[in-house]
Amino acid sequence: MARTVSFEELAAVGLICIDNPPVNAISHSVRRELVDAIARAQNNPGIKVLLLTSHAGPFSAGADITEFDRPQGEPSFEQLNRAVESSPTPVVAAIGGAALGGGLELAIACHYRLVHKGAKLGTPEITLGIIPGAGGTQRLPRLMGARAALNMILSGTPIAAPEAKANGLVDEVVEDDLRAAALSFCERLLRQGLGPRPTSNRIVADGLKEADIASALLAHARSLKGRSTQNLAIEAIQASRLPCSEGLAIEATLAEKSLASGESLALRHVFFAERESGKLNAASSLNAQPAQPPAIRRVAVIGAGTMGTGIAIALADAGLEVMLHDNDPASLVRSRESRNSTYASSVRRGRITESVADECLRRIANAPTLGELADADLAIEAVFEDVELKKDVLSKLDSVVAPRCLIATNTSTLSVTQLARATAHPGRVLGLHFFVPAHTSRLLEIVRTVHTSRESLATAFRVAKLLRKVAVVSRDAFGFIGNRMMLDGYFREAEQLLLEGATPTGVDTALENFGFAMGPQRVSDLGGNDVGTRARLELFRRETRPDPYCVIADRLTTMGRLGQKTGRGFYCYENGGREAGSDPDVIRLIEQLAVDRGIRRREIHDREIVERCLLALINVGAMVLEEGTAARAADIDVVWTSAYGFPRHFGGPMFYADTLGLPHVFERIRHYHDQLGDYWRPATLIERLASASSSFARWDRNAAPR
Ligand code: 3HC
Ligand code: NAI
Repeated sequence: MARTVSFEELAAVGLICIDNPPVNAISHSVRRELVDAIARAQNNPGIKVLLLTSHAGPFSAGADITEFDRPQGEPSFEQLNRAVESSPTPVVAAIGGAALGGGLELAIACHYRLVHKGAKLGTPEITLGIIPGAGGTQRLPRLMGARAALNMILSGTPIAAPEAKANGLVDEVVEDDLRAAALSFCERLLRQGLGPRPTSNRIVADGLKEADIASALLAHARSLKGRSTQNLAIEAIQASRLPCSEGLAIEATLAEKSLASGESLALRHVFFAERESGKLNAASSLNAQPAQPPAIRRVAVIGAGTMGTGIAIALADAGLEVMLHDNDPASLVRSRESRNSTYASSVRRGRITESVADECLRRIANAPTLGELADADLAIEAVFEDVELKKDVLSKLDSVVAPRCLIATNTSTLSVTQLARATAHPGRVLGLHFFVPAHTSRLLEIVRTVHTSRESLATAFRVAKLLRKVAVVSRDAFGFIGNRMMLDGYFREAEQLLLEGATPTGVDTALENFGFAMGPQRVSDLGGNDVGTRARLELFRRETRPDPYCVIADRLTTMGRLGQKTGRGFYCYENGGREAGSDPDVIRLIEQLAVDRGIRRREIHDREIVERCLLALINVGAMVLEEGTAARAADIDVVWTSAYGFPRHFGGPMFYADTLGLPHVFERIRHYHDQLGDYWRPATLIERLASASSSFARWDRNAAPR
């Protein structure tokens, strides 16, 4: 087996390098080899100081998450960190890139720390549903104080080097050559005769008061909604007032408990699903040739409306040059104003500096004619949702841009295949479905047609990576993955519940209490009920759906109740605000629509609301899978947790279905099928998996590569 740690003697310095690409995760073998290296140094009287760093890449991204389902084995993290901390020769950590989770915990078990100015330090464990379990809850409070440690652990967001220095987490920030600076730091230690400085010998300067806990919980209330890991983290940090060995024992018990929780299983599932969905399977049936995507530097965006402007900002943020074309000069003016105000607000909020904002703004230039887009590496069309218009724009683009250029459409409802066929090279056309707001939303649905080449797909993945978005491939089918499930599953059932007697507030609150960021009616009002209506009109041009199908939202659209933008929708919004107030007119409208359909209204409990909306989502998700629109159940989970507000700590709808057990899911769907009619027909895939007592996770493992 390849070594994962190297040891080198540089005069009196023992240089230990973690070498476990790509992120230097601290696997079992890294722990073993680190302990061996320390022991080796101790047997060499010539070694007076140890320098611990990484060979390349980040210092360490923490524990190897792929090993979480196995016993930890020896040496454990606790044994490794004890070996480091109790080393009689001082140990200096030189941190480049990032020290995260167990990587940071290893660094703070060292006696001294230097960090490169661009490095990040953090404890992202909470995003995986676990607490720092390698001494983080005990040593961080000893270095930075319990309050600061609590905030760091509950936020999960890494901090920059200067903040780490200000917090007492590191001794020095290095501007340039980390290795050289660390070696001279070691020489200084030797000259000054400074020895080990165990963190665990320190006492915690502050204690956690109830008010500190309450304010930290409030600060992170949004990301911790419905979660429980934070309670274990707080308990562990409170134990840091005890002698370190006692605190560490308490931390170990709590860490184990967090690791075994359903929350952690779900969050780890999403972590790996997001990485897997962005990969092109080597065994793809699409095209046997492996793909080396061309570099992307210049991007043409056609259409400078809401989406085109957001996409241009996303591209500029990623350092790409953007040529923005629109045939309406007024749109270009509005787009510029909107870009200016977006960047000004980012500067105001302290997210970026003014000079970074200026640089980004300068990267976006107007291109008055299509001819000026000739040297684009990628062209993204975001003009009005009109099939003939889009065909015309794509075919013109096809004749203007170079053969290497990937052509993408941002359509959300039209057939990408049909659009691709309007060009002479349909192999280089695909859908890049951005979500609103395009510059901050995490998901990018990549829509492939039967013509899309493997090279085009590989380029699209590269684009997603450049934009730091999670990519999911969808086959070209109405609504792709996300909107299809939203319309056929989630929205339709939410409306059915309204017709049967629930209220918009009742439905939204039940689902928000389950953990959704926002209930379906509030979502519809936010995006615009007219947007949904237009999508359904396109759907009905291609397919049929039995009545009732989102009839309330469509009626609201015809009444001009488009949602927040008109101050009225499912709710009313007073004085242009965002506060959703219930509206008796809407209740009357719903009652009338129910009467028209002979539906008897009754009281509906939250439990039924949640069960029906989730089961409908799962059932349509299974259809999306069996039809091949999504390649993996985990891809669906990524779509729903990254763009549709499904709570990550339940792992996405398909993972949640596995948690419920497919036999139970099938039985309940069949129950609603009997009660409510054919639109509840159970997906064949669910029936098949349930009868074999199988799961979507198992189906994913056996599914054909895309
Ligand atoms: N363990 C195992 N594999 C990991 C990993 C980890 N901690 N972190 C990243 N990887 C893998 C990814 O799965 C991916 O594998 P793949 O190429 O086979 O898909 C590969 O490394 C590259 O990862 P990314 O695609 O995410 O690379 P980026 O450059 O975009 O991001 C990163 C790098 C910021 C380090 C990001 O990977 C990350 O945030 N990693 C997770 C960090 C984390 O959560 N650490 C805490 C672990 S828990 C812990 O330490 C417990 C401790 O308290 C005992
Ligand atoms: P928009 O109406 O804000 O902007 C469209 C722009 O295209 C306008 O500025 C218009 O002047 C320009 N345009 C029209 N014909 C043109 C032509 N021949 N050449 C150059 N420019 C032309 O529309 P929006 O909302 O930005 O939508 C654009 C596309 O993105 C649509 O296909 C839409 O379905 C899709 N989409 C929209 C989402 C949304 O919520 N707004 C979400 C995801 C996709």
